[in-house]
Amino acid sequence: MIKEVKDLINSQINKEMYSAYLYLDMSNFYINKNLDGFGNWFRVQAQEEMDHAMLFTTYLLNNQEDVKLEAIAAPDVPFSDFRAPLAGAYEHELFVTASINNIYTVASENKDYRTMQLLSWFIDEQGEEEKNTDELIQKFDLFGSDPKGLYLLDKDLAARVYSPPSLVL
Ligand SMILES: [Fe+2]
Ligand SMILES: [Fe+2]
Repeated sequence: MIKEVKDLINSQINKEMYSAYLYLDMSNFYINKNLDGFGNWFRVQAQEEMDHAMLFTTYLLNNQEDVKLEAIAAPDVPFSDFRAPLAGAYEHELFVTASINNIYTVASENKDYRTMQLLSWFIDEQGEEEKNTDELIQKFDLFGSDPKGLYLLDKDLAARVYSPPSLVL
């Protein structure tokens, strides 16, 4: 693996761990506001992000590369109201998609087909995450301004359960 691809994957581990931190922070915010369903949704999301970090880590290790863990920044998305974390999560997913796409571009330019194959799973996954987060915002905009609607939406989000990633390395 060329150094540029390796370094990008190494820093992607940090981005995924930051994502987990960010979603854990959002989860905590909702749970302290007694919206445990929203809290559950974001806690599952945080677990998925840690899975992503582990997959990139395993990929580097499987390729006999060193892994250099970097400091994880504190989450910095403001919680001005119940909608703000949802919008922040969507923006963050767009940022992660751009980051994955950039690694794919560099891997492709260097004919690193194995990394491209790994990243194709993440490209699909980002599509799912953008869709899920966008749906959450749309549901919130439809039902969230009414207390009864918000209550039922929170109940709905409480049903989300964690499942391990479909990719096994
Ligand atoms: Fe991720
Ligand atoms: Fe994500």
